[in-house]
Amino acid sequence: MSINYSEKIPNNVNLAEDRTLQRALEQWQPNFINWWDDMGPEGSTNMDVYLRTAVSVDPQGWVQFGHVKMRDYRWGVFLNPGEQDRKIHFGDHIGEKAWQDVPGEHRANLRRIIVTQGDTEPASVEQQRHLGLTAPSMYDLRNLFQINVEEGRHLWAMVYLLHKYFGKDGREEADALLERNSGNADNPRILEAFNEKTPDWLSFFMFTYFTDRDGKFQLCALAESAFDPLARTTKFMLTEEAHHMFVGESGVGRVIQRTVDMMNQLKTDNVDKLRAAGVIDLPTIQRYLNFHFSVTIDLFGADQSSNAATFYSSGLKGRYEEGKRTDDHVLKGNVYKILAVENGSLVEKEVPMLNALNEVLRDDYIKDSVGGVERWNRIIEKAGIDFRLKVPHKAFHRNIGSLAGVKASPDGRVVSDAEWNAKLGEWLPTEQDRAYVASLMGRVVEPGKFANWIAPPVMGINRQPVDFEYIRFN
Ligand SMILES: [Fe+2]
Ligand SMILES: [Fe+2]
Repeated sequence: MSINYSEKIPNNVNLAEDRTLQRALEQWQPNFINWWDDMGPEGSTNMDVYLRTAVSVDPQGWVQFGHVKMRDYRWGVFLNPGEQDRKIHFGDHIGEKAWQDVPGEHRANLRRIIVTQGDTEPASVEQQRHLGLTAPSMYDLRNLFQINVEEGRHLWAMVYLLHKYFGKDGREEADALLERNSGNADNPRILEAFNEKTPDWLSFFMFTYFTDRDGKFQLCALAESAFDPLARTTKFMLTEEAHHMFVGESGVGRVIQRTVDMMNQLKTDNVDKLRAAGVIDLPTIQRYLNFHFSVTIDLFGADQSSNAATFYSSGLKGRYEEGKRTDDHVLKGNVYKILAVENGSLVEKEVPMLNALNEVLRDDYIKDSVGGVERWNRIIEKAGIDFRLKVPHKAFHRNIGSLAGVKASPDGRVVSDAEWNAKLGEWLPTEQDRAYVASLMGRVVEPGKFANWIAPPVMGINRQPVDFEYIRFN
């Protein structure tokens, strides 16, 4: 399964054997590069960046490191090897052979799933395009760029599926993926969280911790798909996604480390004094966390959805770790608890599980995201400081499903309009918070130097020292 780099489009899918497909993708390629030049990381064209590039899909050593110009990055098409005689393992077709092609009756739904996933990939590159100008270190700048090129490759992965399996409308969808833009009033990205700004590095670290983790869960659900090429491509995407969440978790952790060090040095938890010292106070970090968590859990969709039921029953999209579950994998007659508001308070309501599969995936996501928050708390605890971060209640600040618009506090109480308005500034980042965080964002890019508001990492990338020259600016 090694990758052929002598071809214009690196791939492990024998692209050369399918001339029509190869030509179609080679026609899309310059449009992608134009998009990268216009919408990719600002001012980065001449930089040589220490990037990892996939050289095989073998779990031992799929990666190679070296300084490259990002627009010369070998974006390509990599699928995990197929399993022999893979069977569909959930839904109405359970036990049948996995599909190597798209069944006519599921074509529209599969295309929609692939387009929606594909749309998020370039969207995040667009959201992050100005961040390089305010990087807190060369190490962080390199990590940002690594994520950006890999999101570009994830776009390639979805475009390959569209071109290969969906004919003319697939090619049109692939073009449209380069035409929509994050935050564009006339032609925005499909999902709301991908039209939000990522204006500063605290937002970036929160985004890569929380929102890239949404990516992980969506990809895990698609990795179960009966449509085998989708399962294989998302499995390989997941190997790249792990680094994105690492950047988020370690990034927020380093911000916290720097803050608690300053708190101990100045012997204070006074927000004004800490801001005067140029670090980000813990309550502000909590408000950023509340914002990114709540916006991200909306991405899983409505808590009751007939589409979710259809996607599962027809085998298009499974649950997280479907294969490890011990139920019948058909779920007819099963129930699941969702939240609703009755008489001014939150109550649990049992609904058919098939309709609640968005909620099932959201709950699995929530369990997973709590882990890193606990690791952040250990940093605070170790510093001897009496403050703990918490993910907000899932009813807090929601915009989709039965909790949309419900005014609930981060600890899960339904509150009056008056309390909501009075407390909002304690619960979500205020204009002043954002302006303060923005004021810290300066560019620090000498090797081994770090902005004042963030601690250095414990280790460099690929066992290089922290002060390694990760980027040559030329
Ligand atoms: Fe991605
Ligand atoms: Fe990602």
